[in-house]
Amino acid sequence: MIDDLRALGEAARKAFETARDESELEAARVEFIGRKGKLREARQGLGRLPPDQRPVVGKFVNELTRELQALYDRRKAALAEAPKLEEGWLDVTLPGRAPRIGHRHPVLATLDQMVEIFMGLGFTVAEGPEIEDCYHSWEALNYPPHHPAMDEQMSFYISPDVLVRSQTSTVQIRYMETHEPPVRIVIPGRCYRRDTVDATHHHTFHQLEGLLVDAGVTFADLKGTLELFAREMYGPGMTMRFRPDFFPFTEPSAEIALTCIMCGGRGCRVCSQSGWLEVGGSGVVDPNVLTNVGYDPEKYTGWAFGFGIDRLCMLRHGIEDIRLLWNNDMRFLNQF
Ligand code: DAH
Repeated sequence: MIDDLRALGEAARKAFETARDESELEAARVEFIGRKGKLREARQGLGRLPPDQRPVVGKFVNELTRELQALYDRRKAALAEAPKLEEGWLDVTLPGRAPRIGHRHPVLATLDQMVEIFMGLGFTVAEGPEIEDCYHSWEALNYPPHHPAMDEQMSFYISPDVLVRSQTSTVQIRYMETHEPPVRIVIPGRCYRRDTVDATHHHTFHQLEGLLVDAGVTFADLKGTLELFAREMYGPGMTMRFRPDFFPFTEPSAEIALTCIMCGGRGCRVCSQSGWLEVGGSGVVDPNVLTNVGYDPEKYTGWAFGFGIDRLCMLRHGIEDIRLLWNNDMRFLNQF
């Protein structure tokens, strides 16, 4: 009889300890220590035992009942504290949610590549403010008062003397004001214009400005440097076109265009059927600009350029519409 009770005790302990939730525990309670449970049966069987065995077996049954009751109470408390899976608090068996890993925006990746090429040529990176005054935006860059070249910049004014910059050329001035020649910098930055938004224009865009000032610098160095840049960026077949242009801060000035990659130069919607995509301006720094920052134009000459990074990005990836870059459609951006 005692042996049977021991086996019963073992089975009960195991059932209580391995019950995974309250309903399994309740089933075990009913089976072993409930009112019609197995221990109750054993107690009722005591009467059939020889009288000398009754006290010993009776004591065993009592102790086992107490032990199992305590075990049941402990398990019940533990299950009540555990996170309730059925309420959906936490299911540790579910696969985890992978964090979304971002990547460089294609325009910034293009900028990185451009900066890397110019750093390889000995340029360093400089930056300046997006909010500018009229002096650094116009006067110091040799814009005569009321000159129509300012209209072309389509600036957003904050007050009559303060604007968000429409070109990174402003930073040329800020850099030269605080540094002596030789200067060899590229200036990445965001610019703003009241341009009508279309396939190749956006009110918010990015430029990479370049400036080199030293003794004996010529336009030939500018052309050689930019052609090398275009080949590094787009491969040996890329052609760059220089055409006379006007900027107040350079003389002579040249517009820079690259073969339209979209149509291979045959003419398409993106390049307005011309076969070329205008990507920036350049020129030999006007002596007045050097004088404005306190450099001696008899001693130093320089050249400068400004590229539209967004357009170079379009060329790099064959993107037909600049707006695709800035409307935050992740299905588009995730391709790069
Ligand atoms: N800042 C001019 C623009 O936004 C581009 C430019 C032209 C930059 C000639 C230069 C330059 O540095 O020399 O249209």
